[in-house]
Amino acid sequence: ISNGLARTPQMGWNNWNSLGCDVSQDLLLDTSKVLLDSGLRDVGYEYVVLDDCWQGERGQNGYITYDEQKFPNGMKYIAGKLHDMGFKYGMYSSAGEMTCARFEGSLDYEKEDAEIYASWDVDYLKYDNCFHMGRFGTAKLSFDRFNAMSQALNATGRPILYSLCNWGEDYVHTWGMSLANSWRVSGDIYDHFDRPDALCSCNDPRDPHCVAPGSHCSVMNIINKVAPYVDRGGPGGWNDMDMLEVGQGGMTDSEYVAHFSMWCALKSALLIGTDLRKLTPNTLTILNNPAVIAVSQDPMGRSATRVRQDFNVKKDKYGQGEIQVWSGPLYPSDQLVILLNAADEDLTMTTDLNEIFVHEGPEGSAPHTKHEYAVYDLWADRMDERQAEKILQGDFKKYQKGWYNSTETPYKEGL
Ligand code: DGJ
Repeated sequence: ISNGLARTPQMGWNNWNSLGCDVSQDLLLDTSKVLLDSGLRDVGYEYVVLDDCWQGERGQNGYITYDEQKFPNGMKYIAGKLHDMGFKYGMYSSAGEMTCARFEGSLDYEKEDAEIYASWDVDYLKYDNCFHMGRFGTAKLSFDRFNAMSQALNATGRPILYSLCNWGEDYVHTWGMSLANSWRVSGDIYDHFDRPDALCSCNDPRDPHCVAPGSHCSVMNIINKVAPYVDRGGPGGWNDMDMLEVGQGGMTDSEYVAHFSMWCALKSALLIGTDLRKLTPNTLTILNNPAVIAVSQDPMGRSATRVRQDFNVKKDKYGQGEIQVWSGPLYPSDQLVILLNAADEDLTMTTDLNEIFVHEGPEGSAPHTKHEYAVYDLWADRMDERQAEKILQGDFKKYQKGWYNSTETPYKEGL
């Protein structure tokens, strides 16, 4: 959508993956302090997004209120605090009668809700899909529901990034770009690299088993689900592969490196999902890799595409195992190449120029005629075991200083 926002994939943090309904004013303000002091804001994570469970009742006048226990000073206060720290404020609702956690939804109250978000100085809306009252099942029914909020946000005159969350259903890849800055492509992510789950494996958006929200999609499920649609994103609107699980503890660091790399290479919306009050050095060194973030934020905004998928490798105990090669252009004339080893074994993977450029030139030809390429490993000197100590004492300490010594913060533990 051309509302001037999300010219590159939005970056930020969202509480849902790690904290669910356990939301509060303190959580948002404490998290923003970690984002600031750890340097994560300065590498691009600017949206602090509150997910479900903040709502109070809807008043007689049609305007929604917030839970005053959780948010004693109200939403405008939080927005003000976040803005003072250089962040933007995101909130959540659902294109349904209720949200997924059964709070008030926005269906048929789009105008009132958009107005009140604007009055609270909100900069971002994540808009979910639960309790759609049967207004679902065709592209048109879903488009109309999500378009109502798109129009209402637009009518406020305030730039509000619109993050649409209909789990890849109703052919959103054909209409998401026309009304939103991002659209979810799958059911909810969960903290596992490749364990299959029937609720995520169905690809027909009309299949009733696809509709259930809940954490069912592994990293590999989501990558494979979005693979045919990666070209649908671009400046102004992006595929949303769901919030990151990096730091949650269910995967190895190298799986998190693969997860993060793929979200950046496929130009997904990039929202940290872990509880940053417990941020560890390893998690930080993944989330703040400037070279990989630069891939996500490349001004050309073109996703890598898959040029090879091969299942003829060793499977893990879930019966999963494959290798993939992805390739894509970077501004101005570099090429990103990913050798994704999702096999249950260490492998030496190779590729060549014909494979890397297969989608780039006239059929059958490699369009790039350069004879020499300099090759850079974007994870070198970071996650290599021999370098781990260097990272802890180098990069991390630089950021650590500000908050480790601060008396205001409770974040000393575990550093
Ligand atoms: C379903 C969404 O897909 C999740 O990301 C989260 O927003 C929950 N709903 C909240 O209830």
